Amino acid sequence: MKVVIVLFLAVWVPSQILAQQNDTDTNRTLAIETQSMSIMDKLFKFVLKEKWMEVPLNHFDLFDNRTWKMRYIVNDKNYKEGGPIFIEVGGEWTIDGIALVMSNMFDLVKEHHGIMIETEHRYYGESLPFGEDFEIEQMQYLQIEQAIEDLAYFIEHFKQENPKYKDAKVIVHGCSYPGMLVTWLRLRFPHIVDIAYASSAPLGVGLDYPEFFEVVNDVYANVSDECIETIRQGFNQTNELMKTEDGRARVRKAFEGWTCGDVHKMNSAEILGKIVSVLNVMHDPSQYEQVACLVMTMDADDEEAFKRLANFIIFKSKHIANCASEKPEGQELRNGVAWAYQTCTEMGTFQTLNRKNSHHPFQMDMSVEESVAECVSDFGGMVTETVLRTGIERVSRRYGGTKPKVTKVVTIQGTNDPWKHLATLEDYNEEAPVWIMEGSHCADVTVRDDDIQSLKDIRVKVKALITKWIKEIS
Ligand SMILES: *[C@@H]1O[C@H](CO)[C@@H](O)[C@H](O)[C@H]1NC(C)=O
Ligand SMILES: *[C@@H]1O[C@H](CO)[C@@H](O)[C@H](O)[C@H]1NC(C)=O
Ligand SMILES: *[C@@H]1O[C@H](CO)[C@@H](O)[C@H](O)[C@H]1NC(C)=O
Repeated sequence: MKVVIVLFLAVWVPSQILAQQNDTDTNRTLAIETQSMSIMDKLFKFVLKEKWMEVPLNHFDLFDNRTWKMRYIVNDKNYKEGGPIFIEVGGEWTIDGIALVMSNMFDLVKEHHGIMIETEHRYYGESLPFGEDFEIEQMQYLQIEQAIEDLAYFIEHFKQENPKYKDAKVIVHGCSYPGMLVTWLRLRFPHIVDIAYASSAPLGVGLDYPEFFEVVNDVYANVSDECIETIRQGFNQTNELMKTEDGRARVRKAFEGWTCGDVHKMNSAEILGKIVSVLNVMHDPSQYEQVACLVMTMDADDEEAFKRLANFIIFKSKHIANCASEKPEGQELRNGVAWAYQTCTEMGTFQTLNRKNSHHPFQMDMSVEESVAECVSDFGGMVTETVLRTGIERVSRRYGGTKPKVTKVVTIQGTNDPWKHLATLEDYNEEAPVWIMEGSHCADVTVRDDDIQSLKDIRVKVKALITKWIKEIS
């Protein structure tokens, strides 16, 4: 049985190149990264071009003429006169150009002979308005509304700088947070953006989001009772064992092989936290829960639940999960700080664990108060609960919540996406359909041969609709 699983995984490895760009924890991933780097070097030499545009820092103050340099990557190899502009909107990460050569959107680019551009979000990657060492006060321009203005400005000025695209139709795509951005970009700038494709866009913002781990619970529970019971009992046993000397030794021995850091140097909370994060299903390949439950329910008769859970955690930590223990630094650290700032000022949606009001499998509490306190301490008092509440309220008012009044936006949400309850899982209206795919967060974005048929079908459906819309507006 073990052999079957290993083979099964071998098929998935290529996807990790894309999913785990930042995971430098294991030699294995390092090898994959190095390999993908050289491919990317070649792409940047022959296909992709890196460019910069000067963009206003504060779009809402006429008297502030400061600017910053926004990075973007271009693939115009497929462009033919009259073709559209396709934009892959970057989010809380460093852009890499992969979507410009391999993605569902890229298939549309080829079909319509368009130019494709990936934009980097302000304060992420190399698009740093205040350089690498910025102060907390300088982060005040890191706002959703500014980011949306950046994109509108970018499109308008890109067309001015390149007159041959003057009349080109504009189609934008984003996954996750950028999925929200493209929906709102189309909402606020329908005269600049013609069509938006949003993958896994959790449009709702709010303080607390206990549903995250409920979806995780349901994904495993839907496979079998035995599977979710193993997680529930295994977690509880680990927690109980950590209370005695002898028990701690047994836990550390059981988890020794994982890639989440030195288990002998971790305390109970750190170990349990890592277990929760590895079990997170957000980036799992399609139907991975079947394999997960197979591993966890193996040897059910003669192994204790915490050992079965440990075996799975080790297995997943080596192949799929990013559970690096080293403290991030450089670009990775800056991206993390910027995202924490956005979370603490406009997004919220803390993934809380609450035994009283939700049905997650973990005997552990993580309250929204703790998360807010972390925000306050991380951002030196500048961010408070009132600031966050005001930010959230403003975002909801500005963009119309989870059912915005937009048209020509196609949205895809995943059945196994822990963020799905922040989205409306039915059409916004006749001209803004929401389709549900079998899979997790952004599973429609990257085209893979080994995907289940229903995922392939939904990609085809999205492309057909966008093609229909392009024809309608041309
Ligand atoms: C920006 O504004 C300042 C003060 O109003 C002015 O002195 C400066 O020339 C302006 N810079 C540019 C590039 O317009
Ligand atoms: C679990 O199964 C139920 C019933 O089929 C379904 O409604 C639900 O969406 C599933 N949940 C997940 C997370 O797969
Ligand atoms: C957790 O384990 C303890 C000790 O074995 C037990 O008393 C308790 O009922 C368990 N809780 C759950 C929710 O399984």
